[in-house]
Formats: sequence, structure tokens, C-alpha cells
Amino acid sequence: MARLFFALWPDAPAREALATVAARVAARLEGRPVPAANLHLTLAFLGEVDAARVDALEQAAGGIAAHAFTVSLDRLGGFRRAGVAWAGCRQCPESLARLQADLDARIREAGFAPDPRPFAPHLTLARRVRGTAGVADMEPVRWLANAFALVESARDRGGYRTLAEWPLQEGKD
Ligand code: 2AM
Repeated sequence: MARLFFALWPDAPAREALATVAARVAARLEGRPVPAANLHLTLAFLGEVDAARVDALEQAAGGIAAHAFTVSLDRLGGFRRAGVAWAGCRQCPESLARLQADLDARIREAGFAPDPRPFAPHLTLARRVRGTAGVADMEPVRWLANAFALVESARDRGGYRTLAEWPLQEGKD
């Protein structure tokens, strides 16, 4: 079994900018910043998946034909109960919602049961924060999302491992 999810990974400049914001937010809220290499925006969380079913999952995701789009994170907020502070977007791109919905539908069709909660696009900056993060504007951090990935969360090793990645066609936002 492996704990799997699909996600968008920021490019290097965005990752650096987000790590700076994460350090600031974590210090202010007495939480733990997410290490720069782990910063990501989850599209679908699957939980534990049997190794024998990973091929089917990859096939489902491989059927997606979507365009690349710009992600602009311009809002800070938090999930109080989960104790996380995140970066999100005031107006998330239609393409992001479409990609997520398409992925969700395909993996359900293939027999998987992704997290059923409505998609709340966010990139977790810090965990174990105290109090409420409160919603505020932030200096936008942008990147061109030109791929999405299937990732294993190897919690014992404290990190993530990319199992497969699919390109998003460039040329149209
Ligand atoms: P989070 O950043 O808000 O914790 C790997 O755990 C990724 O899947 C994280 O980005 C996490 O979001 C996300 N995720 C979504 N639903 C989850 C769930 N039910 N349990 C754990 N992680 C979940």
C-alpha cells in the first residue's frame, strides 16, 4: 500500500518565493513551515492505494488532455481545525477547476475513491499553527502549471516521491 495523491508542483522561482512566505507565516503563527521541496497544490487525495492498482490509476490520469495554465496564489488563509496555513487564490483559474474535475471523474470511473470534499485549491505553507491564520492578501506568486504529478507521501521518510508526471499542453491559458 502507498499513500497517494495528485498535485501540481510550483516551479523553482515560485517554490523559493513560497518558501519565504511559509517561513514568515510559520514564525508569525508559531507553526512549522513546509520544507520548500514539499510545497505543492493537491488536486486529488487518494489515501492508501494497493501497489497492484497504481497502473490503473496512471492509466486513468494519462487519459487527460488539458492545457497548461498560470496559477497565481494571492491569498493567505488557514484551516483552523487542521492547524494549517495556506496560500490560495481569490479567483482560481477555470482551467484548474476543469483539470481537477476531469481527474476526479476519471479516477472515480476507474474505481478509486478520492477525498469527497469539495475542491478547495490551496497550497499548505505551514502546519501545526496556533490560532487562526485569517484571510489576507499576499504578494502574488505565479507559475505556469505545465504538468501534474502522481505522488507518494512517504511519511516515515518525511517527504514525497513522484511516481509519474503528465504534461499539460502549452500554448493556451
Ligand atoms: P493539506 O496540505 O491541506 O494537508 C498529501 O497529504 C496532500 O494531500 C496534502 O496536500 C494534503 O492537504 C492533501 N489531502 C487532501 N485530503 C487529505 C486527507 N483526507 N488526508 C490527508 N491529506 C489530504
